[in-house]
Amino acid sequence: MTTPIPCPPSLPFLGHITSIDKDLPLLSFSLLAQQYGEIYQFHQFSVKKVVVSSYELMHDVSDDKKFFKNIGGVLEQVRNGVGDGLVTARPDEENWGLAHRLLTPAFGAVGIRDMFDDMCDIATQLIVKWERFGPGAVINPAEDFTRLTFDTITLCAMSHRLNSFYRETNHPFVQAMVDFLLESGRRTFRPSVVTNVMGYNTKYEADIKVMTDLANDIIADRKKNPTEKNDLLNRMLNGKDPKTGKGLSDENIRYNLLTFLIAGHETTSSIATLSFTLYYLLKNPEAMRKLRQEVDEVLGDQPPQLQDLSKLTYLNACLRECLRLSPASPIRSVDARDDTVIGGGKYTIQKGQSVIITTGRAQRDPKIWGEDADEFKPERMLDGKFDQLPPHAWQPFGFGMRACIGRALAWQEMLILIPLILQRFDIAMENPSYELEIKQTLTIKPKEFHIRAAPRKGRAVPL
Ligand code: HEM
Repeated sequence: MTTPIPCPPSLPFLGHITSIDKDLPLLSFSLLAQQYGEIYQFHQFSVKKVVVSSYELMHDVSDDKKFFKNIGGVLEQVRNGVGDGLVTARPDEENWGLAHRLLTPAFGAVGIRDMFDDMCDIATQLIVKWERFGPGAVINPAEDFTRLTFDTITLCAMSHRLNSFYRETNHPFVQAMVDFLLESGRRTFRPSVVTNVMGYNTKYEADIKVMTDLANDIIADRKKNPTEKNDLLNRMLNGKDPKTGKGLSDENIRYNLLTFLIAGHETTSSIATLSFTLYYLLKNPEAMRKLRQEVDEVLGDQPPQLQDLSKLTYLNACLRECLRLSPASPIRSVDARDDTVIGGGKYTIQKGQSVIITTGRAQRDPKIWGEDADEFKPERMLDGKFDQLPPHAWQPFGFGMRACIGRALAWQEMLILIPLILQRFDIAMENPSYELEIKQTLTIKPKEFHIRAAPRKGRAVPL
């Protein structure tokens, strides 16, 4: 006999909707986990979901043979803008397999290596901007990391320059995307009749149009100015699936282009991982010291070259540790293919049941990471320890066939930017007593995190 899954008290019809913070659902899931433990039920109106937050249960549901990606909740709403693009395609939709086979090679080792120069080009624009700002300026790093990742994905994947560092304000796409994602999240906690009556649709549709217009402009520009470059956009426009011989439809190209514009910068968003990494480094001066020492030893005063990146061992460990503590995409959701049991036979999961995995909590499970699991310690990722982790203990890029396609791109982008910053600046938090607060849309990021970047004492590093 299995153990019943705990269920917090709920309201008729609404279920647990009122227990969830609409702007920070992650926090509510964490609070419920503190109260109810590694597994509990959660009712979103009439739909029952099971939430798991321990390593053991995350491991058990990370099995493509038993579970498949669930496109419900916020992802279902995001489909209003990006349809059956890679992130939001349902498992049974033909277009997922087609796009996955066609586009995965663009993110392989050769594809990413070819992006190196373009990545350095955009990263240098950020450095020049901070140098010109000078030590007195208060910088919101998230804003500039957004510019960086947005321009990087468009240049590297679509050979299209947005020149965000030459604009006073964000590109209109960025605000439209942020508002679209926020509204998509809120819709999941609100009956659709309220959405329709309260007039939320007008702004929502206008935001989708701003995003779609940019995708259409990029496609039109490429059709007018064709290139031989084998970039992501050309693969989308001209590629043929090796298995079926089919190409992508115009609609699916647009959806995937939007998917990459959103996924490519909303997550790396840098706003997420780059900002969290800076935060953790500033809060842990010894880690910052070691990282700087490594950057100085490997690069001296020279800009990073491709062959240097693999020598930045401590930086790799810092990024891994940051993604363990604060995975940019902290929740994913799967459905059971059949009746099954998890937790060593303890809990029954019925066929079709959705299971929400709170990666951020599971990656802090003391059974795997020890009693200091909440602390930032890059050393736990060094000296082969990362490779010896139990299976699926570290999965900020998701799992299995639906894992992140852009992982290597994001990683290279971060390996280039962070050394460039540390070579040139002494970074400090604007408010030294700032404690991490989180903002959530599809992903999470630090809220109200501001820094100053003074030229590094005793070093003048040429660009
Ligand atoms: C999927 C995380 C950067 C494109 C995912 C998933 C996660 C993730 C957790 C799986 C979501 C799920 O199962 O529901 C991250 C993190 C990043 C990052 C932490 C940076 C640090 C990127 C970049 C791109 C990208 C730069 C594009 C260039 C995608 C796509 C998928 C995906 C297309 C869907 C794959 C599929 O379902 O076939 N990412 N991502 N990601 N990511 Fe990323």
